[in-house]
Amino acid sequence: MNPSRRPLIAGNWKMYKGGRTGVELAQDIVKSSHSLGSGVDLVIAPPFTVLAAVASTVEDSSVQLAAQNFYPKNEGAFTGEISPSMLKDCGCAWVIIGHSERRQYFGESNSFVAEKVTSALANDLVPIVCVGETLAQRQANETLRVVEGQLNAFIDIIARSPHAVAIAYEPVWAIGTGKVAGPGEAEEVHVAIRKQLAAKDEALATRTRLLYGGSVKPENAAALLACANVDGALVGGACLDAASFSAIARAANR
Ligand code: 13P
Repeated sequence: MNPSRRPLIAGNWKMYKGGRTGVELAQDIVKSSHSLGSGVDLVIAPPFTVLAAVASTVEDSSVQLAAQNFYPKNEGAFTGEISPSMLKDCGCAWVIIGHSERRQYFGESNSFVAEKVTSALANDLVPIVCVGETLAQRQANETLRVVEGQLNAFIDIIARSPHAVAIAYEPVWAIGTGKVAGPGEAEEVHVAIRKQLAAKDEALATRTRLLYGGSVKPENAAALLACANVDGALVGGACLDAASFSAIARAANR
């Protein structure tokens, strides 16, 4: 782990815990964060409906708030959408962009992902941009080519930005399936991403945190986080339980 990239553990709550149970989960995460020390950054991404309430819960703690999505316009007649400035007002510092579920179910393209990265950065939200291949692409030996193409869509934007963004490598076949990429498989892709960043700009490669996501659990977190180019994790299922999420954070904080 490079000392300039503090481990980052982010919890993507997806479409769970959008009400009172969300506030309770945030309270439990804040409680367990007290014993964690300052060696790891903790970020949680609850659903929109509970963002404001969770913002109050985490206010005096080290737990930071992310949104799972937004629409890349500041305001306007966009029924049902949420703008980046609204997220800022709500207390968000981070936002997840390009999650495979958005690419797959909501047709988000590489160019829309790039537009969202620009918009987030312009609004002082730090993006966690997701990339990753499907099972069919991995079986066809296309993993590195697919991830390179996804990163290529926004690499110029993050290279120009003074903010250090995070990139999450989330192999689609590992999300919610219990099939975690082995540390070797994760590290291979992370190394390729790091090289692509370095080819653009060495400083970009040094400052960008690369997270692994896909069935990260307390049992496998330490081995993944021990990889030289794995700077943290983007956790789905296991982040809905405060004890599991904290155990993963502790594995990062060694
Ligand atoms: P799981 O940890 O449930 O596999 O989800 C990973 C994910 O999609 C995080 O964004």
